[in-house]
Amino acid sequence: MPVPSFQELFGVPPTTSAEAPGRVNLIGEHTDYNGGFVLPAAIPQRTRVEAAARADTTVRLWSAQFPDEAPHSFRLGSEERTGGWIDYVKGLTRILGSHTSLRGFDARVESGVPVGSGLSSSAALEIAAGRAIRTLFGLALDDVELARVGQRAENEFVGAPVGIMDQMACSLADTTTALFLDTRTLAYDRVPLPPEAALVVIDSGTSHDHAAGDYRVRRSECMEAARLLGVNELRDVADVQEVLRLPSPLNRRARHVVTENARVLATVEALRSGDCRRVGRLFSESHASMRDDFEISIRAIDDLVELACRVQGVYGARLTGGGFGGSIVALAHASAARDAADEIARTYTQQTANRGRRLVPQ
Ligand code: GLA
Repeated sequence: MPVPSFQELFGVPPTTSAEAPGRVNLIGEHTDYNGGFVLPAAIPQRTRVEAAARADTTVRLWSAQFPDEAPHSFRLGSEERTGGWIDYVKGLTRILGSHTSLRGFDARVESGVPVGSGLSSSAALEIAAGRAIRTLFGLALDDVELARVGQRAENEFVGAPVGIMDQMACSLADTTTALFLDTRTLAYDRVPLPPEAALVVIDSGTSHDHAAGDYRVRRSECMEAARLLGVNELRDVADVQEVLRLPSPLNRRARHVVTENARVLATVEALRSGDCRRVGRLFSESHASMRDDFEISIRAIDDLVELACRVQGVYGARLTGGGFGGSIVALAHASAARDAADEIARTYTQQTANRGRRLVPQ
């Protein structure tokens, strides 16, 4: 059944349409809230928000993901958390409305970014909706400021203590370069993927939930490790040997962050010199560190990574995103990427109780 258009939903045509992509993180996991480095890229799947301003202070939102639901509505200034997808937009209007004067608007959301796959469907929604609101009301916000507003929406309104990586990636990354970001200063650089390499993203069919405890626990373990080591953030640990004096498991948590930061720098160097094999090795080391030290992997993801690394044309693979399920990212030879992705997804589906899905190449 065809989904309703904006005009059919709201009786007027949209006056603006804005988009943002999902993201895949190549390397640098759980480093962003430790002041460290990350290296995400955009995925081809995008979220689109069509919108039109209203004369009053009502906001009405509809998503093609839930085609049978009527538009949700709320009043600006009385945003309340309900636990659903509209909270991300409510968070934006709450934060933007506290220092600019907004009016109400109608918005229709359509998204190809899978939910629960560790590919930042929520940040894609925040950035696409933020862009639409920016255009509707002529807000003077650049893409970095918009990313910060998105992160604040999650931290302060949704209640998820996430770092800045996802919003920066959805706001600034593209699909042909990796965004090398220093999360402390927000300085960034675009690192092209070598022409002979392509990214592969496979969904493991097991989902994660950030708002739930595990992400929060890891974050507070990192804060505690930094406090015990006498540094502001784990980014500032000068020598990885220092972490050995921490009690378990903080020693392993901190070792992941310190070594992962170094791996991001090494990956950037390897990409710049076109050394795909080295990138592959760094992916594998990163996965081992997430599995053994940071303990954010699960059996299904470990199986998927192992299987991917055995497929012809694959340089290396690792869990991507917050962890506890979601997707893996692999670097493959460009000419082999699609076939490799299909083979990985097929074998995984046959050998496990889960359904693997090729998401990239699309
Ligand atoms: C989630 C968070 C990010 C980051 C990653 C892990 O995607 O939103 O801020 O911490 O997990 O690297």
